Amino acid sequence: MKKDLLSEYELEKNYFDRIFERAVVLKDMHRKGFHPPTLSGKVLGMIFDKASTRTRLSFEVGMYQLGGMAMFLSGRDTQIGRGETVADTARVMSRYLDGIMIRTFSQDMVEEFAHYASIPVINGLTDLLHPCQILTDIFTIIEKRGAYEGMKVAYVGDGNNIANSWINAAVKLPFYLTLACPEGYDPDPEIFGRAQTGAKASVQLFRDPADAVRGADVIYTDVWASMGQENEQEKRVRHFKGYQVNKQLVEHAGKDAVVMHCLPAHRGEEVSADVIDGPRSIVFDQAENRLHVQKAILEILMSGGNEQ
Ligand code: CP
Ligand code: NVA
Repeated sequence: MKKDLLSEYELEKNYFDRIFERAVVLKDMHRKGFHPPTLSGKVLGMIFDKASTRTRLSFEVGMYQLGGMAMFLSGRDTQIGRGETVADTARVMSRYLDGIMIRTFSQDMVEEFAHYASIPVINGLTDLLHPCQILTDIFTIIEKRGAYEGMKVAYVGDGNNIANSWINAAVKLPFYLTLACPEGYDPDPEIFGRAQTGAKASVQLFRDPADAVRGADVIYTDVWASMGQENEQEKRVRHFKGYQVNKQLVEHAGKDAVVMHCLPAHRGEEVSADVIDGPRSIVFDQAENRLHVQKAILEILMSGGNEQ
């Protein structure tokens, strides 16, 4: 049966670890200038209904370096933008491509596409989740802090796709997650609710960012207005006052705490310039790691066991 990557919640620990282990190998090969042609002749389609820098680059460069190619498909310029059904599009694209990555608004659309496609489908960000980003983030934590096990990650800001993906990952992996979101901007209630049941109650939600950040190993933030929420920008800047990751807030964290951000960042809003450009920030290594982790994901889903 084909495998998709739609949500971290579908993955088990050994699957996460397999991606991280392969990404270490691929990153090392990349450093030595060697690109194994494990996806030779394969083509990845990429449907983008939203803007992207890192996601497009990492998938496109990753496919090329592994011997295949990626095809950019703007939602607007394909027939799907004129009303061809998701089901028909998925069935047709499956006849040409070896895999498909989708960045769009609705998680349901990606799941419907995956249902009708006979090729692997990868969620490249929806309003609800951003699994490829969180896999990269955890890989980066392993690289910087030695392991993710037992780490305390503090997420400060909007309860958006990034926050939801962090919660999903925290349900599956042994690390602690605290979040601080202003009232009215909590994470998805179903996703958060799932993290409150069962034996593993390692996800806590606070209102005060200082409470979330206390003793943290990793401080993470993301934009206050995500793609599709541009018209709420002004209102959100008011509502998120006090939720900026700045020098004062970082003081509450562990002395070796690192600062992460999926990027793009708005300096002076969710993060101060001196913090994101300061010594604790690992955002550019994090951004680079999108490439290595993406390659690991692509290989695992598309190589048919042809990893080298
Ligand atoms: N972090 C991330 O997904 O960046 P892009 O929106 O540039 O792809
Ligand atoms: N929450 C942001 C993440 C961008 C990578 C957005 O959805 O726009």
